[in-house]
Amino acid sequence: MDQPRVVLFGATGFTGRLTAEAMTRAGLAPVLAGRNERALNELTKKLSRLVPSPQAPTWQCADVNDPDTVRDLVSNPTDVLVSTVGPFTRFGAAAVDAAVSAGCTYIDSTGESGFIHQLFERSDEFKKSGAKIIPACGYDFIPGNLAGAIALRNCRDRDEWPSRVKIGYFTQGPMNMSSGTKASALASLGSSGYTFQSGQLVDTPLGTKFAEFTLADGKKYGAINIGGTEQFALPRMNPRLLNVDVYLGWAGKWSKPASSLASLTSPITRSRISRHLLTRLTSSIPTTTGQGPSGPELIAGRSVAIATVHDAVGNHLETVQVSGPAPYPFTAEFLAWAAAMAHAGRINGTGTLDPISAFGLGPFIAGCSAIGLRQVRNN
Ligand SMILES: NC(=O)c1ccc[n+]([C@@H]2O[C@H](COP(=O)([O-])OP(=O)(O)OC[C@H]3O[C@@H](n4cnc5c(N)ncnc54)[C@H](OP(=O)(O)O)[C@@H]3O)[C@@H](O)[C@H]2O)c1
Repeated sequence: MDQPRVVLFGATGFTGRLTAEAMTRAGLAPVLAGRNERALNELTKKLSRLVPSPQAPTWQCADVNDPDTVRDLVSNPTDVLVSTVGPFTRFGAAAVDAAVSAGCTYIDSTGESGFIHQLFERSDEFKKSGAKIIPACGYDFIPGNLAGAIALRNCRDRDEWPSRVKIGYFTQGPMNMSSGTKASALASLGSSGYTFQSGQLVDTPLGTKFAEFTLADGKKYGAINIGGTEQFALPRMNPRLLNVDVYLGWAGKWSKPASSLASLTSPITRSRISRHLLTRLTSSIPTTTGQGPSGPELIAGRSVAIATVHDAVGNHLETVQVSGPAPYPFTAEFLAWAAAMAHAGRINGTGTLDPISAFGLGPFIAGCSAIGLRQVRNN
């Protein structure tokens, strides 16, 4: 059998370049894949200087518009396909199909609720091929899984009965979005979100719920609901959990008005016709790739997530806040760590996997810690 390959699809994009460097430094000898031959060649040459030649990257062309070229990236169950080709609701299917054909591990950087939901809905189908599909291994949604998992573990150690978990995502310091983040936010307009309520996944339009979180600095921050992987991960970790909500605080003081607006417009944006029109409109808007913060701006911010846990009658049981490197470097480092775990055959289960189930709680906490994402508060 051929040596297992670690392939990075989207290597010439903004997050892809950061991830390619992290994978090369980690000694994974990645195959850098994308649609632009010249850019791939140049990137491969540049990164080859960082490591001894056996660990140097190689490259291979693949284009979503020619799915066979994406399928050619992986062929064995031991291969690992990491994708940063987004927006995922538009371009993500080809890489997932390729990984399922090979029955191998797939890891991505998506933060798009609609795409994540679809992957979890197709889990049984993926299981048949033995594929391990692990979406959202970036700033969205690793830190919230970590905060929630530590909080639930602490409750378990004290024999407490948690019923509700609320996760909030924030950044500290400047936050400049990459071209891909903007394109994905646009592509997500009109797509549905979800919450975990009374033990079930419930369709809940994005942004229609508002919550406030008190961070370790003692100040309150508003946030609006999104669909993450915590709604799948945390009930698997503690089957008694009845409610899991995930919120994003990027809109800052505009979170509450944004939530009111989303509630007003959701009956319109939820209709099939509106969704179809929004998809057509957003996919016709030209977008650039490869743009994002650089130099000191790239590393200036911090990724922050907080988990609060209550019991069935509303008693507060636990609050855990985690903080780590800025979102883009964090995403690149975590994708490289996840790929190394998959390459070493250390993924549990098949089908669509949340990060806690996929890596196991202990290795997941240790992996986050190794790249600087750690607990800063517990009460
Ligand atoms: N969850 C998180 O925290 C997080 C963090 C970072 C990024 N992301 C997500 O990751 C995705 C990428 O972000 P980014 O900042 O790297 O964006 P980007 O620079 O726009 O990269 C997009 C990538 O997709 C590639 N691509 C587009 N169409 C393609 C096609 N037909 N065939 C093959 N490749 C194609 C582009 O190739 P070219 O290079 O040839 O243009 C580029 O490599 C976005 O969806 C973003 O939201 C999420």
